[in-house]
Amino acid sequence: MPIKDRLHRSELAVPGSNPRMLEKAPTLGADIVFMDLEDAVAPADKEQARKNVIHALLHHDWSRCAVSVRINALDTHYCYRDIVDIVEQAGKHLDTLLVPKINTPEDIYFVATLLSQIEASKGLKPIGIHALIETARGMANVEDIAATCPERMEALVFGVADFAASTQARVTHMGGANADYAVLTHPEGGKRERHWNDQWHYAQARLVVACRAYGLRPIDGPFSDIQDAEGYRSAARSAAALGIEGKWAIHPSQIALANEVFTPTDAEVTRAERIIAAMADAAKRGQGAVTLDGRMLDAASIRQAEVVMEKMLRIKMGQEQPA
Ligand code: GLV
Ligand code: MG
Repeated sequence: MPIKDRLHRSELAVPGSNPRMLEKAPTLGADIVFMDLEDAVAPADKEQARKNVIHALLHHDWSRCAVSVRINALDTHYCYRDIVDIVEQAGKHLDTLLVPKINTPEDIYFVATLLSQIEASKGLKPIGIHALIETARGMANVEDIAATCPERMEALVFGVADFAASTQARVTHMGGANADYAVLTHPEGGKRERHWNDQWHYAQARLVVACRAYGLRPIDGPFSDIQDAEGYRSAARSAAALGIEGKWAIHPSQIALANEVFTPTDAEVTRAERIIAAMADAAKRGQGAVTLDGRMLDAASIRQAEVVMEKMLRIKMGQEQPA
């Protein structure tokens, strides 16, 4: 069965063509590592990368993180062999397959059917799927995709780079802010100001709703300016504000940033505890709503506080896993 509440604050991308990086990847503190056979690997290296990934699954210690492999997209001839070779030879060690450029529910069924056959023939436990939504078509079908194969689907990732290509959006760098996506305030009163907006808001918000409607984790994709920690943090915080629960790290330096942003702060945890306590008191007095620090609380506040407490519990349980 898929692990729907797997910790997924940081998802480290590692090129399958780089055995040295594959060896280091499980030790770097990411919640999930995906070994890439798709866009980080040149066509001439695809076959060797597949062998490297199988070797890494079989021989490295993946007990400290979840491990995934990004296969090539379904419209390439690499795809079927990626699935067959990796799952047949090393499926026992694999938590999920990360499937790029999912356009329709049928794409998920294709991968799921192949997985079922290989699992049956090799006696493997079911392998999860997490999928990239990164085409206009995938986004147009995101609700139907999210509802597909609940027995395998764990998460959807917003792939901003391919999404920009597919929608012909004008961008600065992968996942970065864009000064053109702004409003200029009205000239009334003299001074005009330019207010930057987030050009990915609609896509991210839509993906969050689709995921939460069907019990999947919404995850944000890459931020390519690896020197810009503040820019990464800001993009991650804005995603977290929408309900996204993790982000890709395309460089090891981004892992700690993602883990930091997607872990509730001490202040959030303290407030959640106080809300739960205040509402428990209110319940004893037969009241449905109370004020805390001058703000109204009701049953929805308890649900929000419980989300924070459950996340903390999962993080603590993750940290208690044997090193
Ligand atoms: C990830 O694959 C992306 O296209 O952003
Ligand atoms: Mg992509």
